[in-house]
Amino acid sequence: MASSLSITTRHTIAPVDRKIYSGFVEHMGRCVYGGLVPATHPEPSKLDDCTPEGFRKDVLEAFKEVKPPLVRYPGGNYCANFNWMDGVGPMAERKPRLELAWQNTEPNTFGTNEFVAWCRAAEIEPFFCLNMGTGDLREALAWIEYCNSDANSYYANLRRSHGIEKPHKITYWCLGNEVYGDWQVAQVSKEAYAAMAIQWAKAIRMLDPSVKLVLCGQHGFNDWDEYVLQQCVDWVDYHSIHLYTEQKTHEMAVYAPRIAETSIVWTQAMIDRARYAKKMDRKVKICFDEWNVWHPEKYPGNDGHEEIYNVSDMLGVAVWLHVFVRHADIVEIACIAQSVNVISPLFTKEGDMFKQTTWWPYVLAAQYLVGRSVSTHVQGSAWEGERTGQLATNKGMLPETLHHLDMAATVDDEKKILTVSVVNSKLEDVEADLHIDQPIKAGIEKIEVAGEPEDVNSFEHKDKVSPVRSELSAETKVVFKRCSYTILRYQL
Ligand code: AHR
Repeated sequence: MASSLSITTRHTIAPVDRKIYSGFVEHMGRCVYGGLVPATHPEPSKLDDCTPEGFRKDVLEAFKEVKPPLVRYPGGNYCANFNWMDGVGPMAERKPRLELAWQNTEPNTFGTNEFVAWCRAAEIEPFFCLNMGTGDLREALAWIEYCNSDANSYYANLRRSHGIEKPHKITYWCLGNEVYGDWQVAQVSKEAYAAMAIQWAKAIRMLDPSVKLVLCGQHGFNDWDEYVLQQCVDWVDYHSIHLYTEQKTHEMAVYAPRIAETSIVWTQAMIDRARYAKKMDRKVKICFDEWNVWHPEKYPGNDGHEEIYNVSDMLGVAVWLHVFVRHADIVEIACIAQSVNVISPLFTKEGDMFKQTTWWPYVLAAQYLVGRSVSTHVQGSAWEGERTGQLATNKGMLPETLHHLDMAATVDDEKKILTVSVVNSKLEDVEADLHIDQPIKAGIEKIEVAGEPEDVNSFEHKDKVSPVRSELSAETKVVFKRCSYTILRYQL
């Protein structure tokens, strides 16, 4: 069946906030030690090429290609049992601690100031998550004072005594992480959380009214989300949701991210209902601060979470990004979970790094899917197989028709460039007619990443799956290769 892609450049959804290309660094596995810094940290590595501060140059350079506006830190589940005080001050006095979320010993040689220094080197804004598990409000206020205050006060002076004169000025703070989950070191009920979140938000705003607070939501389709929003919506700036989509089969990998589309729409409705009840004009946006394609069963054990991503996963990540662009009016922050080694598009070992398949949609979307998000519509060729796994359990959240092509488009009005980003999940080429509501002056460039569903990159074959750039004509019939991610750039 022929396919058609309609793009209405005159219908703006909203400007794309580049914060949807944000990242996430957790003290988990080799994300920090072995990822941002050598595994030997604070001792230098013999093999890793590092900056004078001891940051891996290869990882830092890769981040600079994406330019994620924010990176969330230090977790994740890790948050619920960490004490920020263990990770500041002279190295010789740092205390290794038993870490319960991931059952490790955390050396604490990399903490608040090291992370902020890394962010400054990468030109990224740090985004912190408070411990609402074992941590109390006093500890949270102390951390915020340490980071943000320039008063002559104990924790601001403690920071100065650690050699940091100027406050870090951290704007974005999460009020806990997944505190509803029985996997948390300290789990709470929705009632207890909502009461606590209001108290914490009030006190935090007294300390620093400039902060932006993120409420801890679930998936956006739970009673938890509805309840905490009803109670707390007027105390926060964002509602956080998390979702990981399964990839046991090619179809799950590429279609399950569409569940997130519904979860965004439902979350928006819950936010608006809560705002209505409180007669609130101020908008509250979605912070999708953990998302990715991930199935822990596929990579179990201690090295679990070091998932090697194939082409199907790459297409899934591209669809995830399309979902955020299509909902640019409500999703203001999204953090790929995670940024290095742990379910990540970047994979390192001592002295080397490679970019996984999922790196390509992430970096290309961050570079080209910018400007204003515009309306798109796909018709034609669709997948009609049996829906299993997450596609079956979340049946009501998926569209009736799952088209083989998935698309998002943006217009950069300054440069007069239309970018059309297309996933072809079909195991065959698909020809499509492009219907654009204004004349195209010229094609600029086609960037295509394609492969077989199971293809992966590795240290031995770093470029097996990588982009191919070619000239693009103004022709409106385009063939999308089987299993491909394509960016088309047109001059308007
Ligand atoms: O990103 C891995 C883990 O997934 C995070 O620590 C947690 O928040 C989520 O369950």
